[in-house]
Amino acid sequence: MRMYDIIDKKRTKNKLTKEEIHFLVDGFTKGEIPDYQMSAFLMAVCLNGMDKEETVEMTLAMAHSGDMLDLSPIRGVKVDKHSTGGVGDKTTLVIGAMVAALGIPVAKMSGRGLGHTGGTIDKLESIPGFNTSISTEKFFDDVNRLKFAVAGQTADLAPADKKIYALRDVTATVSSLPLIASSIMSKKLASGADVIVLDVKTGSGAFMKTIKDSFALASAMVEIGNGAGRKTYGVVTDMNQPLGRAVGNTLEVIEAINALKGDAPEDLMEDALVLGQYMVYGTGHAKTPEEAREMLEKTIEDGSALKKFAEMVEAQGGDPSYIYDTDKFEKAAYVEEILSPKEGFVRSIKTDDVGIASLILGGGREKKEDVIDHAVGLIIEKKIGDPVKKGEPLAVIHANDRDKLEAAKERLILAYEIGEKPDKLPMHVYGVVSDGKILFEDQWVREQAATGNEIRFEG
Ligand code: URA
Repeated sequence: MRMYDIIDKKRTKNKLTKEEIHFLVDGFTKGEIPDYQMSAFLMAVCLNGMDKEETVEMTLAMAHSGDMLDLSPIRGVKVDKHSTGGVGDKTTLVIGAMVAALGIPVAKMSGRGLGHTGGTIDKLESIPGFNTSISTEKFFDDVNRLKFAVAGQTADLAPADKKIYALRDVTATVSSLPLIASSIMSKKLASGADVIVLDVKTGSGAFMKTIKDSFALASAMVEIGNGAGRKTYGVVTDMNQPLGRAVGNTLEVIEAINALKGDAPEDLMEDALVLGQYMVYGTGHAKTPEEAREMLEKTIEDGSALKKFAEMVEAQGGDPSYIYDTDKFEKAAYVEEILSPKEGFVRSIKTDDVGIASLILGGGREKKEDVIDHAVGLIIEKKIGDPVKKGEPLAVIHANDRDKLEAAKERLILAYEIGEKPDKLPMHVYGVVSDGKILFEDQWVREQAATGNEIRFEG
């Protein structure tokens, strides 16, 4: 078998065999296939695609390129939740505690943020003492005891994906549906959960900018998960503006804690509840998603979700008093409002630019080695559809450096489009895909389909 022939086969739009896919993934991971040949192959996939069988084989080959976590020491049906990445997305903190409060094991391996999107591990490290580098034994023990643990990835999960992703990043081959689906799902399959709920973000702050592409990605990932014997749901949710109001590590943790206390922005709680519904229903703890939703809502009302979060924080070395008194969190030196240059309505927000503003402040990292400033970030005061007067605050910046504050301010002002009339409000949740079916779709999605403006994936 020769890599040259495999590249040529894909260039001429032919289907690859299982053996060919495993040959190229294994060969590249071991360093036997050079970057230039893999780059040519990735570009051929970008241009000519891969069908379902090829994508499944690619995913399996990447998943098996490193450790496959065995979660069997954890009792019960294990559930994992994964977001394709967004700005202000602190849902894991909220929903992890809510689901675990119902006695369902949430064994969460999370990543750090890179680029304009944040990572759960960075957010949790805003809590003094919180340790995400725990041993596998402690991770299993905490989940068995408390039903909830969040750890940074220690095992060598899907090393093929790490190498391939690094190449995609510099060869303009990130935005290919089969490559994104196989990248995400290889890591999910290697992390060992029985039920996987995928939050597929759509809009200006997401990888997938259109609803149609997002449904297509959700469907592809669900098929891969189901095909590998994992119950998988894909929830398509909005990322045309930051989720909730807080962007930045400490600010997001405070917003998540407030949500667990019953004080959540509507979009954040809706996102959390819909994802949580399928986590609970998928593990067989509720007869219907609606019943699951009611169970989850009770964990906020009776305080059990907040208590679960504090227990998890304490078990991992964090100071739980911060959960009950968020005024204790360290604050940034400068807190400054960004004022609207004119009167009107917020029509759109360039969400990736909001993420970049937080990055500029020091809240994220451009390179893996960058050190994060947990206290910085911003609070969004005006969201899409909101009326705004000239001179009213659009957002509040929390900064520790004046130059960075000015640079972030410039970026943020440009991210806002203010017009005379309000535009259509974005939905929170567009639909849920499982087993090749759209289980729930938003009214707006149905209307678009009915007018011939087809946005559903019929694959
Ligand atoms: N997230 C991933 O892990 N991989 C992709 O290709 C895109 C988003």
